[in-house]
Amino acid sequence: MNDQNGRTLRSRRWFNDRNYPDLTALYTERYLNFGLTREELQDGRPIIGIAQTGSDIAPCNRHHIDLAHRVKAGIRDAGGVPLEFPVHPIQETGKRPTAALDRNLQYLSLVEVLHGYPLDGVVLTTGCDKTTPAMLMGAATVNIPAIVLSGGPMLDGHYQGRLTGSGSIIWEGRRRMAAGEIDYEEFMDLVASSATSVGHCNTMGTALSMNSLAEALGMSLPGCAAIPAAHRERGQIAHATGKRIVGMVHENLRPSDILTRQAFENAIVAASALGASTNCPPHLIAIARHMGVELKIEDWDRIGHDVPLLCDVQPAGRFLGEGFYHAGGVQGVLKELHGAGLLHGGAMTVNGKTVAENLEPVPEPDHEVIRRFDQPMKHHGGFAILSGNIFDNAVMKISVIDEAFRARFLSDPPGVFTGKVVVFEGPEQYHETIDDPSLGIDERTVLVIRNVGPVGYPGAPEVVNMRPPAELIKRGIENLPTMGDGRQSGTSGSPSILNVSPEAAVGGGLALLKSGDPIRIDLNTRKVDVLIPEEELQARRDAWKPVIPPSQTPWQEIQRSMVGQLGTGACLEPATVYLNIIETRGEA
Ligand code: FES
Ligand code: MG
Repeated sequence: MNDQNGRTLRSRRWFNDRNYPDLTALYTERYLNFGLTREELQDGRPIIGIAQTGSDIAPCNRHHIDLAHRVKAGIRDAGGVPLEFPVHPIQETGKRPTAALDRNLQYLSLVEVLHGYPLDGVVLTTGCDKTTPAMLMGAATVNIPAIVLSGGPMLDGHYQGRLTGSGSIIWEGRRRMAAGEIDYEEFMDLVASSATSVGHCNTMGTALSMNSLAEALGMSLPGCAAIPAAHRERGQIAHATGKRIVGMVHENLRPSDILTRQAFENAIVAASALGASTNCPPHLIAIARHMGVELKIEDWDRIGHDVPLLCDVQPAGRFLGEGFYHAGGVQGVLKELHGAGLLHGGAMTVNGKTVAENLEPVPEPDHEVIRRFDQPMKHHGGFAILSGNIFDNAVMKISVIDEAFRARFLSDPPGVFTGKVVVFEGPEQYHETIDDPSLGIDERTVLVIRNVGPVGYPGAPEVVNMRPPAELIKRGIENLPTMGDGRQSGTSGSPSILNVSPEAAVGGGLALLKSGDPIRIDLNTRKVDVLIPEEELQARRDAWKPVIPPSQTPWQEIQRSMVGQLGTGACLEPATVYLNIIETRGEA
């Protein structure tokens, strides 16, 4: 009945409470109706939840339905009883208007299950973008033993002799279609070639980034994140994960033991070396806030900016998930970083060992894909956190700025761009008018999109990576600087200024811009300033009225009423005070 410290397992309050035999009978009898026995429920075995994020509607995570059989076998082998349950589904590419609405909903659905049902520990099935942060946020709030099982990336895509990576090939294909190089049919063939097998995106987009960071945080077994979804090792680590969660329950090893400030700093360092998605800062900040750990957006620049980019993986590099896996995956990257003294080696992980202990047996990575620390892809792999006279903070992914972009846009003097803005009021207006010559978009233009933040759109869709007008693409200008209060896909290689906080819809300065306003971006000082006198900005501020489209569903309205800004994780603000809830607030 007890763990190795003599603690009574919480599931006993449901199944063995002799003080309340009528309640025990009620709680127990219905779990018998599909074949479980009283012995299994009442002889003191840990009851382990499997939080199932896969379904037909969530194809990136769908194979977790099969992997759960291996997880259950592992739980049984270690003496536990598995109970699989669904959470609210999220499919990044399927949900309208944006899957970003649903991270906080999946989080809530997990918290309610973990708090309200007889579970001693939980396996978190992760994969598609928001599923990883949502699961970790929920486990952090409840703080019962929890372990991440990643679903793994799809196998590599190929088309006419070259690699085609998830998402990234869409951004490339739409440029080529806009330039008239390919038609719709070829565009579709090109894109379909990247969806090879079960699994999530095989580029270092948000999914592979966040699963890699879950491993860097210590929340999955070492080696878990990179195993391709279709490999046998994926099923084998599912079994090992099921076995291990039972041990974690006996040891009472909880998220609060693992998700420490040191763990988050390790994850920021890893994110830079991986060339991770621009969605990682808000997601990691959200996990930290639900764990009660202080993590600020500025920490990403301070801790991560000077860490080199080591991974030659798309969109910052050449390879895809299979190449990353065979080269050594996350542990290979951590090995390089630890060798350079950049990690907190003493941080605890789910297998009961520290980061440093886990790295001891790890062989040197294949340096074709994972570079040596002293011979990196780029010397600065992290994010720049910008601020200025129209916003408090925004994120820019330095690792995707190539030399051509730097020479064209960031050279007067080095690191500085001066030009004018052209403003779009949202993705609809951008799509309708981007090719309209009367907008006057040229090489000195920053494309700005607003009203696409957590409140504005709502959810903050991935729309800031706007392409230039077709006329410019035909002249060889494939990217322009872009800026917005929404997000961008982690599979995009665009060096955009993203996640501008506060957003226009809540009165952020982005709302005050007019097309034609002069702007100066200085990456050296991290400043973005619109070159307009403060009196003029104030006059526009006084005249400003919010433009917020009506909510389409009840959840959109509820989320809008309590969501915070991307710079602080876009959390449901009232939820962030619910920390370690079983100990601080009690059981139902
Ligand atoms: Fe699901 Fe990329 S769309 S992982
Ligand atoms: Mg995405």
